[in-house]
Amino acid sequence: MENRAQWGTRAGFILAAVGSAVGLGNIWRFPYVAYENGGGAFFLPYLFALLTAGIPLLILEFTMGHKYRGSAPLSYARMSKGAEWMGWWQVAISFVISTYYAVIIAWAMAYAWFSFGQKWGDDPTGFLVGDYLQVGAAGEVGSLVPGVFFPLILVWVIALGVLFKGVKKGIEVANKIFIPTLVVLFLILVIRAVTLPGAIDGLDAFFKPNWSMIAEPDVWVAAYGQIFFSLSIAFAIMITYSSYLGKKSDITNNAFITGFSNSSFELLAGIGIFAALGFMASATNAEVADVAAGGVGLAFMVFPEIINEFPGLNGLFGFLFFGSLVLAGLSSLISIVETFVAAVQEKFNVSRTKAVAFGGGLSAVVSILFATQGGLNFLDVADYFINQFGVALAGLFEVIFIAWFAKQLKPLQSYADAVSDIKLGAWWRICLGVVTPVVLGYMMHGLFKQNLVGTFGTENGYYGNYPTEFIFNFGWSVAVGAIGVAILFTHMKSWKKNTLDIPVSTNKKEVSS
Ligand code: ALA
Repeated sequence: MENRAQWGTRAGFILAAVGSAVGLGNIWRFPYVAYENGGGAFFLPYLFALLTAGIPLLILEFTMGHKYRGSAPLSYARMSKGAEWMGWWQVAISFVISTYYAVIIAWAMAYAWFSFGQKWGDDPTGFLVGDYLQVGAAGEVGSLVPGVFFPLILVWVIALGVLFKGVKKGIEVANKIFIPTLVVLFLILVIRAVTLPGAIDGLDAFFKPNWSMIAEPDVWVAAYGQIFFSLSIAFAIMITYSSYLGKKSDITNNAFITGFSNSSFELLAGIGIFAALGFMASATNAEVADVAAGGVGLAFMVFPEIINEFPGLNGLFGFLFFGSLVLAGLSSLISIVETFVAAVQEKFNVSRTKAVAFGGGLSAVVSILFATQGGLNFLDVADYFINQFGVALAGLFEVIFIAWFAKQLKPLQSYADAVSDIKLGAWWRICLGVVTPVVLGYMMHGLFKQNLVGTFGTENGYYGNYPTEFIFNFGWSVAVGAIGVAILFTHMKSWKKNTLDIPVSTNKKEVSS
């Protein structure tokens, strides 16, 4: 096990962790979530969630990976024999996410190309749904969409090509190129956006605090949801990435740097997106509220309209936006796929090449489903369910199991303190043992209620008004299926002799900074 791959430098690890965290969630999710949930006032619950759940959980996952030096299933199994399935659960969740995340990057690639000449024309929404994705009825697969399929192949060639090369020569090198490039491209975009006419109205809408909203529990739930997705927590990623750290690594400091870098990028995205929305509102004589959107709507419907209105160099700015989405997405996708590459490699004792070929290859094949005419509908439902009943639920299990059942917070704290400059106090254990389980428990209770009643108690499902059967087949089945797969992989094969012994590192090399 001590032949384990290792990051070349501390900066390499931090860039990879930040690369995983900074993704589509920062650019298209955060600005709208903040705007919808109180604008400037949202920063209070957001910071609370970052400090009580985001950073404490990052420290926890970094510590687990570093201490147990394994993929998520192996790290959980080494911590406590009965816990391996939780690692596989997170890996299965990541597998599902990888299959559609790759497709969104493929759309962004196509749109980076479409930007030159604004191929989407005067009606970007009609173009997206009709000409480009050729969306059919919910639940119908339809035929393959070549405009999605070909860029999707390119996405997988890049992601798997990086993963074949390994941790240091592949993932680390890729992030050292992708992340600085992303920051430069995005900064140019943001600087241009804030100097556009009307930008100030957008920024005003984004930052104006609606204090009455912070009394609403849903706003706090939104903050926790955002932090989980954005920091890639309970995705098995941070455990896997930190398992490649050298023996002497400052875990706590690394977690703070990762958490604050991710939030800084999120804030930057909020400023850029809302400045651009303010410009769009003023150019079309609309209110910011009328043009504000998030997710697919923001990136592929509203943003092309903004590019149409741009006073000059339209193609270039479209390219900067979609190029940023591609870079942010690719560095996250690589980290998501690495979770099952590492897990398969260890459990089945196969080479990295085989693990990438089978694990990554399988995800690539499944992703073709989302490159069909039915792709957008499948993606929408799978994304909602795997996030709410996958990521968030697995996060709740993670804290409850580690804090309450395995009682591992104190030993993990001692471990983190022994290798870190910043020493953790009781605050860390209280955040993980009390605050996070209570907030997440409340959140899950509400989500189950809304969605179970929605799915089984009414004609149309709670989410997206899709037919119940569709929600059942592609939402619930995917989320519950991830748990089934986790149990299957846990019992499929036993670990090689002595694998579950906690490793004593022989590598004393300090990761240079
Ligand atoms: N953390 C990644 C994102 O924000 C998954 O998109």
